[in-house]
Amino acid sequence: MKTIIEPFRIKAVEPIRLASPEKREEVLQGAGCNLFKVAAEHVLIDLLTDSGTGAMSAQQWAAVMRADESYAGSTSFLRLRETVEEIMGFERMLPTHQGRASERILFDLIGGDGRIVPNNAHFDTTRANIEHSGARAVDLGIPEATDPTNRHPFKGNVDLERLESLLAAESSRVPVVMCTVTSNTSGGQPVSLGNLRATRDLCDRHGVPLFLDACRFAENAWFIKEREAGQQERSARDIAREMFDLADGATISAKKDGIVNIGGLLLLRDEELFRRASELTILTEGYVTYGGLAGRDLEAMAQGFQEVLDEDYLRYRIRSTTYVGEKLLEAGIQIVEPPGGHAIYIDACRFCPHLSREQLPGQALVVALYRHAGIRTCEVGTVMFGARQQPPLDLVRLAVPRRVYTQSHMDYVVEALVELYAERERIRGLRIVDAPEALPHFSASFEEI
Ligand code: F0G
Repeated sequence: MKTIIEPFRIKAVEPIRLASPEKREEVLQGAGCNLFKVAAEHVLIDLLTDSGTGAMSAQQWAAVMRADESYAGSTSFLRLRETVEEIMGFERMLPTHQGRASERILFDLIGGDGRIVPNNAHFDTTRANIEHSGARAVDLGIPEATDPTNRHPFKGNVDLERLESLLAAESSRVPVVMCTVTSNTSGGQPVSLGNLRATRDLCDRHGVPLFLDACRFAENAWFIKEREAGQQERSARDIAREMFDLADGATISAKKDGIVNIGGLLLLRDEELFRRASELTILTEGYVTYGGLAGRDLEAMAQGFQEVLDEDYLRYRIRSTTYVGEKLLEAGIQIVEPPGGHAIYIDACRFCPHLSREQLPGQALVVALYRHAGIRTCEVGTVMFGARQQPPLDLVRLAVPRRVYTQSHMDYVVEALVELYAERERIRGLRIVDAPEALPHFSASFEEI
C-alpha cells in the first residue's frame, strides 16, 4: 500500500485553527516578521522545531503517574539508568535538563583555550558551548554535504582525510572528536556505520576519544538499516547499539529521539571524567539522580527511548518526512536532497530567485508561508548565522514534531508550498530593523521592502 498510515491511533486531541488573513497580518506586524515572537495559538501547523514538541504515548503518561519523586536514588532514575545501559550500553550516565546542559558540563571539563573540537557539523548550541570554554569548534563534513542537489546517502559523514590531517598535526590539542547523528546542520542527514567505524579507528590511532551528539540516534540507525550495504537484516536497535559501542561518550537531547518534552543525558565511559561531571551536575543541574528533572521526566524518557526504536514507528517517521520532500521536489521546489530524517530544508534562494541574499530570501519565505497558510517554520541561513559567517545557503527548515501531525496535515503543508511557489515572485524581501549581536534569529525584527 502506498498510503503512509500513522502506526498509532489518537486518544487525546488538541484543537488547532487557522487565524483569519487579517489576524495573520496583524500577528506578523506585531512580531516584526519574526515567527519566534508569534504566540503559538496563532499558528495552525507548527514546524519550528522537532525538539520537545513530540506527543507522548499512553505508556509514557502511565509512567509519569508511577514516577518516584524522591530527591536521591529514585526508582525512576534507576529505571532510566537500566534502559540507557540496555539500549546504549553505557553504565555511567547523568540526566540533565536538556542537550545543551550536557554540552556545557562536558566542555567545561574538556574544552578551554587552545583546544580544538572537530565534528561533522556542530549544532549551534554545541559550537557556542565549545567557544564559551575558549576552545575552537571545527566542522569537517564531506564536501557533498554543501551541495543541496547531491544525493549522497550519508551526507552527514565526517571527512576522514581532513580529520586525519587535523589529528596528525594537532592531536594534543584535540580533547575529543564529536560526531552528530543525524547531522541537523547539514539537513538532517545520516552518518554511515562505515564512516563511524573509520572515525573511531582514526581516534584510536591518535589516542583521542570519540563522542556522539546522539539526539537523533534512532533516525540515524534507521537510515543505516535502509541504505548501508549489509545492514538490512539487522534491527535498528542493534545498529544503534553498535553506534554507541563505537563511542567513549555522548551528549543527548532527549527532546528529539527520547520523545519527551524536556530532558537530556550525558553518557561517559571514563570513571574520572564521570566523577568530575557529577560534581558539575550537582553545581548547576541538581543531584546526580535527577539532574534538573522531575522523576516523571526520567520515567517518560526511559519509556520514550524504548518506543523510538520500534521499527513500525521508525519506518513511518522517515517515510512521512521523505513523502513531504518528494512531493516538493515533484513540484519543482528545490530542497536539500535526499530528504532528511527530522526535517525538510527548502533552498530559499532557488524558491525566490528574484531576491538577493541581502533581501533575506529564507526569512522572506518563512513570513510568506505563515501569511499564506498559518504554517510556522524557521530560517537557517543569513539570519541564523549572521551575514558575517556567510552561510553557503539560505534554507527554510520544516521540522516535523514526532507523532503530532497526520498525513493530511503534511498534505496541507505541501499544498500551501506549491501554491506559494506558483506565485513566488510576489514574495517580498526583508531588511533587518533591529538585531542583537548574539543569536539574532530569536529576537531580530524585520521590515518588508
Ligand atoms: N545537538 C543537536 C544536533 C540539536 O539538534 C540540538 C537541538 C542540540 C544539540 C541541543 O539540544 O535543545 O535540548 O539543548 N536542536 C533543536 C532544533 C533546538 O530545533 O534543532 P537542546
